[in-house]
Amino acid sequence: MAAIEVRPLDQGFGAEILGLDLSKSLSQEAFDIWNGAFEEHTVVILRDQDFTEAQHVAFSEKFGPLEVFTDPKDQARGFPTILRVSNVDRDTNEIKPVDDLGHKSFTLGTSDWHTDSSYKRVMSKASLLYGIEIPTRGGDTAFSNTAMAFAALPEKRREELKQIVVIHDFEATRRRFGLPPRSEEIRRKVPPVPQPLVSKLPDGREALLMGLHASHVENMPRKEGDALLSDLTAFATQPQFCYRHKWRKGDLVMWDNRCTLHRAMPYELEGERRLLHRTTIAGEGPLI
Ligand code: SIN
Repeated sequence: MAAIEVRPLDQGFGAEILGLDLSKSLSQEAFDIWNGAFEEHTVVILRDQDFTEAQHVAFSEKFGPLEVFTDPKDQARGFPTILRVSNVDRDTNEIKPVDDLGHKSFTLGTSDWHTDSSYKRVMSKASLLYGIEIPTRGGDTAFSNTAMAFAALPEKRREELKQIVVIHDFEATRRRFGLPPRSEEIRRKVPPVPQPLVSKLPDGREALLMGLHASHVENMPRKEGDALLSDLTAFATQPQFCYRHKWRKGDLVMWDNRCTLHRAMPYELEGERRLLHRTTIAGEGPLI
């Protein structure tokens, strides 16, 4: 096996892995190195890849069962566990109009700080995003490490925050953007869910869990709860807790949803093509 190197980034978290080609079969040793880097560094980057959808899925499945994306037009053709993160219509291959409702929901939803599927009873563990078409300007992905941010708070504040429960609700996210409600059937399947404001990772670290899908704080007046969430988000997204990934075609980035927020940075939505494929590893169970 060629030597695999894990090179930590300067930002205080994140690491680049060198010496791996995911279009080839992966040894257990190589997988263990990757998994160890993921657990330790939170965001893992592998450049210059050229793999198929099936290889993307097969690699992702090594970390656990994958979430399924229900709307076929959001899926890579034939792969219900690959989400197209894109402004390009799958069927016409043209850039979508910005006022297309599905598109709007997606671009608005990913351009603000969020954690993938925090609105599900069992939220995700990790996501793997693969760059296929990259705009010439903008469209970076920014990450905030909410475990680092939580650890930087005074102890008394940390203890107070651990008592708080937050309701996450995808419909509330849509309402905030002025988007119409989804069907009754979908809403029944994904009802509002309680999540701890501070979640615990298997290694004992604790992290803030919030972001766009955090609708309101349980048992707290709305105004006070909203201010709490917005203050904590502002705190956790300060530069010292953030890494901004500048995409190149062929990059694969895996991040830990249990202790990060992320968002897509703006780009020319109607002038530049952006296509990335995302798989999402399901979590192991409800946090509450
Ligand atoms: C996402 O939120 O899953 C995608 C982030 C991005 O488009 O950069």
